[in-house]
Amino acid sequence: MASITSVSYDRTKELKQFDDTKAGVKGLVDTGILNIPKFFIRPAEDLAADELNSGHKNVEVPILDLSNIGYSIRRQEIVNEIRNASEEWGFFQVINHGIPLSVLDEMIEATRLFNEQDLELKMELYSRDGAKKVIFNSNSDLYTAQSADWRDSLRLTSFESNPDSSYLPPVYREPTMEYNKHINILAKTLFELLSEALGLQLDHLSSMGCNKGCSIVSHYYPPCPEPELTLGLRKHADAGIMALLLQNHVTGLQVLQDDQWFDVHPIQGGLVINIGDLLQILSNDKFKSVKHRVTANHVGPRISVVCFFSGHADMLEEPFGTIKELISETNPPRYKEFVLKEYIDKVLSSPIDSKPAIDYYKL
Ligand code: OGA
Ligand code: NI
Repeated sequence: MASITSVSYDRTKELKQFDDTKAGVKGLVDTGILNIPKFFIRPAEDLAADELNSGHKNVEVPILDLSNIGYSIRRQEIVNEIRNASEEWGFFQVINHGIPLSVLDEMIEATRLFNEQDLELKMELYSRDGAKKVIFNSNSDLYTAQSADWRDSLRLTSFESNPDSSYLPPVYREPTMEYNKHINILAKTLFELLSEALGLQLDHLSSMGCNKGCSIVSHYYPPCPEPELTLGLRKHADAGIMALLLQNHVTGLQVLQDDQWFDVHPIQGGLVINIGDLLQILSNDKFKSVKHRVTANHVGPRISVVCFFSGHADMLEEPFGTIKELISETNPPRYKEFVLKEYIDKVLSSPIDSKPAIDYYKL
């Protein structure tokens, strides 16, 4: 008879073996597996809950056309659309945002090339050391999460507007610096529109430092042989201020609205914008940070590049809380003040789907 130890499943050992390959999920797929390893399988109650809310697919998150933003009548319309989208969905897509299609395509292509290059070159960057400026790994919370996601990620962390490109892998360097330049210009415009949508001076959010310094995360979601058993990225809300997301043509991103999942279909040249928890706090819950996830898929790879704006280095030691101008007797603060650095440390040390850091500051 087999002993308990020989039949029981040593999860930690399996995780470690996977991690030690430094080849990520793509490495597994390259071996030709037909069944996903057990540690990727979602808990049974999660799988069952999904049956119930796989929802309406004929409603889309708002799509906003940013052309002619300089004309005052059109600008006011766009401000109103952004306000509605931020209040109701916490998500919207933008088109005609001024970033050339070639810049977007090259950013996606650079992510693909990085992930599909020789393993040797990727392995050099494989790490879980959050102090490093650039790291590649599979599942930042691999050892603490209940189940792992079908995804590998390359993260460039920067609290400055001009990250030092010398840290970046060669195939990825040029397109990322070009993309970063354009994204920073667009982010400034979006923070102006969001400020106006909150009834503030146009430069309110940017003068606080919201638009300076972003982390760029390139996700690579390989095709999955058993997509119904796992996810590309578990349900979570983004902890930062705002995120700008570029995705390739493979659908997978879904947002949760009224307990239903809605697909955010890729549109060519479009970018997906979403409100993060910190902007929900700044706006005293007027703007919503909404839960979202990415499904796994038989086809792939799905590629996305997310720029997370989470505050400039200068903001880290300062108290953070709802914008004073938005507080009144009828709209008292819903969060207590905190130091941004503590919040960020809390976020970075917890699994993606754990109790959100924002909950600790609710009044
Ligand atoms: C994220 C995220 C979605 C995607 O990285 O926080 O939600 O489509 N990504 O990759
Ligand atoms: Ni997210």
